[in-house]
Amino acid sequence: MYTDQIIYSKLPRHIAIIMDGNGRWAKEKGKPRVFGHKSGVTAVREVTEAAAELGIEYLTLYAFSTENWSRPTFEVNALMTLLVETVKQELATLNKNNIRLKAIGDLSGLPKKTRETLLQGIEMTAQNTRMTLVLALNYSSRWEIVEAAKKMALDVSEGNLNIDAVNADVFSGYLNTKDIPDPELMIRTSGEHRISNYLLWQAAYAELYFTSVLWPDFRKEHFYQAIIDFQNRERRFGKTSEQVSERNLEN
Ligand code: FPP
Repeated sequence: MYTDQIIYSKLPRHIAIIMDGNGRWAKEKGKPRVFGHKSGVTAVREVTEAAAELGIEYLTLYAFSTENWSRPTFEVNALMTLLVETVKQELATLNKNNIRLKAIGDLSGLPKKTRETLLQGIEMTAQNTRMTLVLALNYSSRWEIVEAAKKMALDVSEGNLNIDAVNADVFSGYLNTKDIPDPELMIRTSGEHRISNYLLWQAAYAELYFTSVLWPDFRKEHFYQAIIDFQNRERRFGKTSEQVSERNLEN
């Protein structure tokens, strides 16, 4: 099994996933796109379980981007309904497994029912400590960064923040992800090699992993493979290879 190859002392704390390929998966089967999204929920369950079992602290899933509103109304409505149903259905399992639900994105732009169910799910799992499952909903990085810049500018203009004190850490504190460590690994399924406005600031040093597997087919084994690939890479953070191996010796 792949899990034998995982080094538990070198697990990423935070993994972010772009769940892509639901539509193509459905098309291949001669089914409507919405069937692909529904089947994608099985993959969501699989990775959430796998991540919690391994001891990953944060798992962020790109469930609906700001750009997704431009899809046909029928598909958007179906996705919103699916979210409500899934959150409701999985709530007991999340609590049983001590998993906390969180969301990033412009939640005020979601339909009332979706927002309310989501906020309820967040509230009812707030005490859980094993892992945080973050749903990116009506999310786009550029929106998040612009909002952060506006809030920061307001603090400066009202005298609550000294502009000379602003640095990357201070700025991070204005993002939706302020209490979440940066992802070390970002996975995208379906063979697309793009970041698509997802965690642009936070993924500055993330290792990117692309797989041709379509999201509804993504299973624990694929997730393990991504982690093993991550662990075999040398993470240098701008240093030389020699400096990195010296640091490793010291540790
Ligand atoms: C991308 O596939 C997928 C989405 C836009 C939605 C992802 C949503 C789910 C998996 C449903 C439930 C999620 C949660 C967290 C409850 P695509 O439609 O872009 O596929 P394509 O590129 O093949 O068209």
